[in-house]
Amino acid sequence: MAQKTFYITTALYYSNSSLHIGHAYEVVAADAMARYKRLRGYDVKFLTGMDEHGQKIEQAAAAAGITPQQQVDGVASATKALFGTLNIDYDIFWCTTCLPHSTAVKKIFNQLYEQGDIYKGAYKGLYCTPCETFYTKSQLEEGNCPVCKRKVEEVDEEAYFFRLSKYQDRLIEHIEKNPTFIMPASRAQEMLNNFLRPGLTDLCVSRTSFKWGIPLDFDPNHVSYVWVDALSNYAVALGFMGDDDSEYKKYWPADVHIVGKDIVRFHTIIWPALLMALDQPLPKQVFGHGWLHVDGVKIGKSLGNSIDPAELVEQFGIDAIRYFLLKEVAFGQDGNYTPEILISRINSDLANDLGNMLSRTVGMIDKYFGGKLPANHAPTDFDEELKTAAAEAASGANHHFDRMEFDQALGKIWAMIGRANKYIDQVEPWKLTKEADKQDILAGSLWMLAECLRIAAILIEPVMPDTPAKIYQQLNIATHTDWDDAATFGLLPKEVQITKGDAMFPRIDTKNLRT
Ligand code: ME8
Ligand code: MG
Repeated sequence: MAQKTFYITTALYYSNSSLHIGHAYEVVAADAMARYKRLRGYDVKFLTGMDEHGQKIEQAAAAAGITPQQQVDGVASATKALFGTLNIDYDIFWCTTCLPHSTAVKKIFNQLYEQGDIYKGAYKGLYCTPCETFYTKSQLEEGNCPVCKRKVEEVDEEAYFFRLSKYQDRLIEHIEKNPTFIMPASRAQEMLNNFLRPGLTDLCVSRTSFKWGIPLDFDPNHVSYVWVDALSNYAVALGFMGDDDSEYKKYWPADVHIVGKDIVRFHTIIWPALLMALDQPLPKQVFGHGWLHVDGVKIGKSLGNSIDPAELVEQFGIDAIRYFLLKEVAFGQDGNYTPEILISRINSDLANDLGNMLSRTVGMIDKYFGGKLPANHAPTDFDEELKTAAAEAASGANHHFDRMEFDQALGKIWAMIGRANKYIDQVEPWKLTKEADKQDILAGSLWMLAECLRIAAILIEPVMPDTPAKIYQQLNIATHTDWDDAATFGLLPKEVQITKGDAMFPRIDTKNLRT
């Protein structure tokens, strides 16, 4: 049987400035999902990259006194370095200024123009450059952009339009018939009620007032509206409209586009309408995650609260940051970052719960058995409950990772870890060690703990890719490659031989923090 494919994407990041922790949040979530699917045996294609055209990038370059191409190349290489730091295992890093991209986007425009889906008109209206979005007067809030609250510009120029309105009924039908097309479901209602049912107007898809974009073949004074250019990447990066479309044939339609709630509209109205016009299948799902706030405030350079994700990683370690991002925020909801919340998560969940479980287990095998468990084991009264927690961790992780409920998947895994720490207190190994006839119970209980650590190591890998190796190393077991090994209790050999290591997650003393 052919291996099942899984195509997942993030949004493309604007090249006007470097990425902040909100962007890191999105790409870490997508990476965790891609890793999970790989572990489940899927042939995964994970795409991310840069959105490099448009007026605000032209403006950022001008402000920095460099060319737009220098601007976007600089941000692209900084982003790649950041993704290395964040342990993002992407398959494609797409940049919209690359030649295959612009060639294909021109072809898309040509086809839509030739078949009558694009026509010439004049655009007179309002435009928000930071959001690269057109608005009507009634959509404004107190005269400003309803999303970023900044001033909008009057635009009056000749322009091409895409017949978006023509696809309105098909879009409504598609969303109504496919309840998981837009997730979370509340966002589907928002699209239907706020945009689709009130009625779509045709979309302005070209600009003449600036140059930094893809010029249209049939009218080179016009450049593509940046959103049409950017959205096309999801198909174009796989070879759609290119010389070799074998990957497109293999991986399209996308299984999920991961995007923030602010751009769900572009991905669930404009992008599907373009695909309908091009007679291509629609993505199976668009997942609109929430916003990460810093100290309760929306992140933005202008607000001066943008946190450099690389600095956080340097200070706290990559797996701690990845764990925090995916545990603290229910995927789909908004979340909040403060140093205090991060540190308390690290100290309680990582240093105390997981870190202590490993160091206590390894420490006791060392102290009571000289580093190697004997082969004779006997059960304690508490084993069955711990085995149940392990089974629930494995099945719960599958269930919740499948739905991108990262916080709940981690919750199930940590319920097992919590149960294991309680087991230590119930079994009281320090008392058993003094009783000569209870050595097999003592050995059995320490093996139970080591076995739960083995299972935890497998299940945390999508979120914390560097941590499993540290657990395997201290327990001297080979790296697991089979995800299903988490669901089988008892795979760990009886005579566990440990290698003591450093604390995986040292407690953080806020007094020693850099400010
Ligand atoms: O919108 N919390 O780019 P972008 C969570 N180029 N997610 C956040 C966030 C925050 N504080 N801030 C931004 C664009 N994001 C376009 C996309 S796709 C063809 C083109 C998310 O750099 C945001 O919601 O402004 C979006 O999904 C992504 O980061 C890129 O944002
Ligand atoms: Mg944005």
